[in-house]
Amino acid sequence: MPSLSEPDKTGPDERVLTSELGEPAPNLPGRSVVAIDGPAGSGKSTVAKAVAERLRIDYLDTGAMYRAVAFTAMRRGVDPEDEALVAKIAAEMSLDVAERVMVDGVDATIEIRSPEVTRAVSGVAMNPLVRKELVRRQREWATDHGAGVVEGRDIGTVVFPEAPVKVYMTASDEERAQRRSQEMLDMHYDEVAADIARRDHVDSTRTHAPLAVAPDAVVVDTTSSTVEQVVQLVLRLAAGAGLG
Ligand code: DC
Repeated sequence: MPSLSEPDKTGPDERVLTSELGEPAPNLPGRSVVAIDGPAGSGKSTVAKAVAERLRIDYLDTGAMYRAVAFTAMRRGVDPEDEALVAKIAAEMSLDVAERVMVDGVDATIEIRSPEVTRAVSGVAMNPLVRKELVRRQREWATDHGAGVVEGRDIGTVVFPEAPVKVYMTASDEERAQRRSQEMLDMHYDEVAADIARRDHVDSTRTHAPLAVAPDAVVVDTTSSTVEQVVQLVLRLAAGAGLG
C-alpha cells in the first residue's frame, strides 16, 4: 500500500471550492468514496470495514491517523497541546494506515488505542495545522486507491465534499458508551461514558472542521439496528451511486 506521506501538489481549498460551486471536477479525489462520519461508538468502524470488504475496495480509518499523531507526540515527549511542534511531527512522520498502523516504521496498532492516547487525541484533532496535513494525506490516499470507504468526523463535510455516498451514523449516548466500554477492557463504563461525552463536546464545538452532518448525508441511528441492517443500507446507497 502506498505511503501517506508525499508532499502536496494541489491546493485542497481550491478543490473544495470547485465542488461547492457544483462545477464538473473530474479530478476530485473523493468521487468514488463512501464517506462515513459520526461520533465515537456510533458503529461506523464496524460498518465501514464490512462495506469496504463487500465492495472489494480499501478502507481508511482517519481517526487512527489523528491517534497516530497524538501517540508520536507523546512518545517523543512533546506536549500534545503544543500546536507548532505537533504540526511539525504530523508533517514529518511516516504514516501508513491499513490493517496495521505503522508509524515511522513501527507497528503502533495497539498503542494508538490506549487510554492515554484516547485522552490526548481530541486536543491534537483541534490543531488546524495537523488537520490540514492529515486532510492532505487522506485526499492523496483516495487518489492513490481510486475508491474507498473512509470514516471519520469531517469526511463528507471537508475532506471529500464531492463523495457520492455520505452516511452520518449515530446512536444514543448510553448505547455508544456501552459499545466502547466493551472495546476498552481496561476502562469502566462510567469512565468511558465521561470520556465519550468530553470528546463529543470537543469534537463538535472545535473551530476547525467540527463533527457535523453534511447537508447531503443520510443520517442513520444505529441504536437498535443490527450491523447487517446498516451495512445493507450503505450498500444500497453505494449501488445507487454506481459504486456497487
Ligand atoms: O474515531 P476515533 O475515536 O478513533 O477518533 C479519534 C479522534 O480523532 C476523535 O477525538 C476525533 C478525531 N477525528 C477527527 O477530528 N477527524 C477525523 N476525520 C477523525 C477523527
